Amino acid sequence: MSSQNPSLRLGVLISGSGSNLQALIDAIESQKLPGVEIALVVSNKADAYGLQRALKHRLPAIFLSWGQRTVGEQFIAPKPTMSESEIRLTALLRLFQVDLIVLAGWMRILSAAFLEQFPQRVINIHPALLPDDGTGKTYTTSDGTQIPVFRGLHAVQQALDAGVKITGSCVHFVTPEVDAGPVICRQEVAIEEGETEETLHERLKVVEHRLIVEAVKRCKSVE
Ligand code: GRF
Repeated sequence: MSSQNPSLRLGVLISGSGSNLQALIDAIESQKLPGVEIALVVSNKADAYGLQRALKHRLPAIFLSWGQRTVGEQFIAPKPTMSESEIRLTALLRLFQVDLIVLAGWMRILSAAFLEQFPQRVINIHPALLPDDGTGKTYTTSDGTQIPVFRGLHAVQQALDAGVKITGSCVHFVTPEVDAGPVICRQEVAIEEGETEETLHERLKVVEHRLIVEAVKRCKSVE
């Protein structure tokens, strides 16, 4: 972590389209995130469109191959040591003096050993509602309804399958347990009639684009 640099330097980790990365780029370029810059974009997929977005805005962007478990394998206990990929990622984050790591659609699990290096410095966007402390199996919506907490892959489809009327997205601190860290900000979204996973996820992403900027702003303010 850099100490002399007054700016909060983000390392944005992506695996796909990178629309949340774009939201951060746009917020920075339109002066909505003063004192924040994107130091590095890392993708575990060479063809992730988010890498093109980064390069278009002349941001350092790199493909880092990753031989790790996927988010779907969430119930496997975290490995006590870092993987080769995590060691490489750590070196890159240090080289680029990253202060805050943003998982923006990053689809690989990070081990407890990796996360210990960056306490309260890794945040994730999750397309479902988590309770304030991130833990537990239920979430109480603002109208008082208790709904299950949807974690891991296909959280959007899980909400549709469960037949809940309200879902949402949140940004939370990352802990070794997948999608179970303290929430920084969140927004509920009502599920519409005839909604599909695609239509709902697109609407959630619109919300996420605001939430991720808000979460980074909050992290900057407690520096
Ligand atoms: C987002 O919906 C986020 O909630 C989930 O992955 C998606 C990434 O979308 N973790 P994008 O790559 O930022 O467009």
